[in-house]
Amino acid sequence: MAKKNSKREYELITHERPKALVSEAYRTLRTNLGFTEIDQKYRSILLSSPNPMDGKSMTIANLAVVLAQAGHKVILVDCDLRKPMQHEIFKLPNQRGVTNCLMQNLEIAEVAQATAVENLNLLSSGPIPPNPAEILNSESTRALWGRLQEEYDYILVDGPPVLAVADASILAGQVDGVILVLWSGHSRIDAARQAKEQLSRAGANLIGVVLNQVEVKRNNYYYNYGSYYYYGYGEGSARKK
Ligand SMILES: Nc1ncnc2c1ncn2[C@@H]1O[C@H](COP(=O)(O)OP(=O)(O)OP(=O)(O)O)[C@@H](O)[C@H]1O
Ligand SMILES: [Mg+2]
Repeated sequence: MAKKNSKREYELITHERPKALVSEAYRTLRTNLGFTEIDQKYRSILLSSPNPMDGKSMTIANLAVVLAQAGHKVILVDCDLRKPMQHEIFKLPNQRGVTNCLMQNLEIAEVAQATAVENLNLLSSGPIPPNPAEILNSESTRALWGRLQEEYDYILVDGPPVLAVADASILAGQVDGVILVLWSGHSRIDAARQAKEQLSRAGANLIGVVLNQVEVKRNNYYYNYGSYYYYGYGEGSARKK
């Protein structure tokens, strides 16, 4: 298993190497989450995890790419107003973004940026505010999801970890569904349980859990794909629709 360290490096593998095995794993994730079904129940989806550095930002960026590659009109919204990374992953500027839409009431079309991936726009975080939780817990943030749904098929929301700050729980209650990312072998069961309880209390609809960095056994050898595994989750499971 690759070790987590504090230096961040990102590869948008689904865009750069669509034929790689890992890219195939992201497409499987897209299918397992029910994104190929016509009558889509979940259009705004938050990815979060119990703790920092579980791979949320990288997972949601690649998920956004494979959704766009399937022909859906997708916007990736960086609501991690503490450690925003999506503009770095997509190598775009971050002068204006979510915080400008919310605080200066700018039009989405003025702020959303085209990415190198067709059908995929990015709403980066914008300038980091002093009071992220307060900004996210506002009428203008709740209204933002409706505004985005008028223009996009899917709204994928990157957020901070659940257990660190209130932001993720606030966002979880506003979107259609939440996916929890766990770093296989690192995320502790008690932290995962605590995150799940906190999200449920916030009114979240937990639709799935993604295990990042699973080791897959093949022909008696272990291959570490850096792959993803999806578990359907309870009644809210996208697979059970
Ligand atoms: N499956 C993977 N294989 C290898 N490296 C990975 C994998 N997933 C994530 N990483 C690496 O781990 C680091 C942290 O990933 P990322 O920034 O996506 O985590 P995060 O959960 O969004 O962090 P934060 O809580 O700070 O927002 C990055 O360097 C990323 O490239
Ligand atoms: Mg992140």
